[in-house]
Amino acid sequence: MKPRTPRAFAGARRQAALAACTVALAIAATGVAMCDARSEDAAGSASSNPVSASPSAGASVRPAAPSPDAGTLARGEYVAKASDCAGCHTAAQGGAPYAGGHGLVSPFGTIMATNITPDPRYGIGQYSYDDFARALRQGVARGGERLYPAMPYTAFAKIDDADMHALYTYMMHGVVPVAKPNAKSDVAFPFNQRWALRFWQMAFVPREPYRPRADRDAQWNRGAYLVQSAGHCGSCHTPRGAAYQEKGTDETSSDFLTGGVNDHWFAPDLTGDPGSGLGRWRAPEIAAFLKTGHGGGNVAYGSMVEQIEDSTQYFTDDDLLAIGRYLKSLPPHDPSGTYAPQDDVARKPLNGSRVPDALSVGYNVYRSFCAQCHGDAGKGVPNVFPALAGNSSVLAEDTTSLIRLMVEGGNSPSTLTGPPRRQMPRFADTLADVEIGQVLTYIRSAWGNNAQPITANDVSSLRQKLHK
Ligand code: HEC
Ligand code: HEC
Ligand code: HEC
Repeated sequence: MKPRTPRAFAGARRQAALAACTVALAIAATGVAMCDARSEDAAGSASSNPVSASPSAGASVRPAAPSPDAGTLARGEYVAKASDCAGCHTAAQGGAPYAGGHGLVSPFGTIMATNITPDPRYGIGQYSYDDFARALRQGVARGGERLYPAMPYTAFAKIDDADMHALYTYMMHGVVPVAKPNAKSDVAFPFNQRWALRFWQMAFVPREPYRPRADRDAQWNRGAYLVQSAGHCGSCHTPRGAAYQEKGTDETSSDFLTGGVNDHWFAPDLTGDPGSGLGRWRAPEIAAFLKTGHGGGNVAYGSMVEQIEDSTQYFTDDDLLAIGRYLKSLPPHDPSGTYAPQDDVARKPLNGSRVPDALSVGYNVYRSFCAQCHGDAGKGVPNVFPALAGNSSVLAEDTTSLIRLMVEGGNSPSTLTGPPRRQMPRFADTLADVEIGQVLTYIRSAWGNNAQPITANDVSSLRQKLHK
């Protein structure tokens, strides 16, 4: 495995955990009647907790499974890649694949992704197929312990039976067992009351696998299936509601995939908005972006980099085109920034107060610190540096990602078939907050781009949250 940048547990994870916690707190506060259930359930989950009392201690029986054929194993491995199981269930620095140890930090404590190798004592070696499917689709571990939605079971609920069986076969027979105990999650009362997750799960977990829509063709349905189930794209790209649930798990919700902030990365709108969405992308450009991190003039950054490296680059070309096709069918929801290249020349002063380019701080910072890579006209270099003119990320309403990238810098993905990794420098020590605000405002208004300005205040408040 490649060395990982300290993964912020890819966004959704933290937020989802908070969700659970918020709900748990709300429920825990609602009264005495719950207390009995709580103590009972707590006792139940103590014995099923794989950390404190592995029921398999001493035992080594594994459920008899028919010996797997190569086709099923390959299919299962594909589903595992598409779902990015390894991305969460592998420790950051050189951890054995799937052996757990990846911690998710929340204000309430740390939730650990567990060992899911087929080790009978510390992993999931004792899981029957039904136990496995229940954990993945309903968020209930073997023994009854409820899982935090940091594990994206609201999406995996839609994985169909054939893929679920293949995935089980692969996890049991294609993954090397590792006898590594789970580190204990460190979550404080009342958020450690996993029983309360039951109510969250009843409200928010889809009840059946993806059902193909009869009014759509096979390619569209394949794309919808991958996006909504294994790909769990919505865990980052769909905004979350008051209980941190995703607002919508398919295209029947107008909020679905309209953009969400997780762990200080904004995952943009994937609907057809022509400004900050995918309206100007063609399906093959979306496919190329998911395969290599380069597409539609954009280059992947932030938490999308690992998603591409660990997961989407392994999709077949047909599957990637199907995803592109499906995303292109989502109608725009919230129009935001716009792009009109022909407008640039005749740019009108805003409120009559626009400073001529040559005198503006933003323009000068851009020329000194950015143009050598992104070009004077913001056109970038194909397959090397992103174009900023017309870049949907640059036009996004939510500016979290832009500011964070400027402060921390970043790198493009390194994939099997794409261009080599490139660095974007960090400017935290080079530019003052006001300069970062000005240069971002400049790129959001130059070359036909038209999106809201960014203030020094926006920059400093995000820097405080990031402690950078
Ligand atoms: C976004 C991160 C993430 C992804 C992706 C993910 N998991 Fe998890 N998973 C977790 C976390 C965190 C937990 C522990 C949750 C808890 O303690 O409540 C978990 C728990 C589990 C459990 C219960 C384990 C036990 O010890 O009993 C199983 C089984 C599991 N995951 C399997 C999978 C499989 C298979 C995949 C891929 C299809 C997958 N996970 C993908 C984060 C993830
Ligand atoms: C771990 C969080 C996460 C997951 C899961 C995720 N994304 Fe992203 N995605 C992001 C972030 C953050 C960005 C913004 C950075 C960029 O453009 O690379 C992004 C950007 C994108 C873009 C470029 C959009 C633009 O306007 O720049 C596309 C297309 C995309 N994601 C598709 C997908 C698809 C399809 C899936 C599911 C297979 C997915 N993403 C899963 C976080 C995520
Ligand atoms: C050394 C080359 C280099 C310089 C200098 C540079 N960038 Fe970048 N920039 C990149 C690369 C490479 C990416 C691709 C994503 C990544 O690396 O995380 C990128 C990505 C971006 C993005 C996200 C767009 C996308 O589609 O990925 C923005 C916005 C951006 N840069 C703005 C700036 C600004 C503003 C400056 C000057 C303050 C600047 N860059 C300086 C190389 C550079």
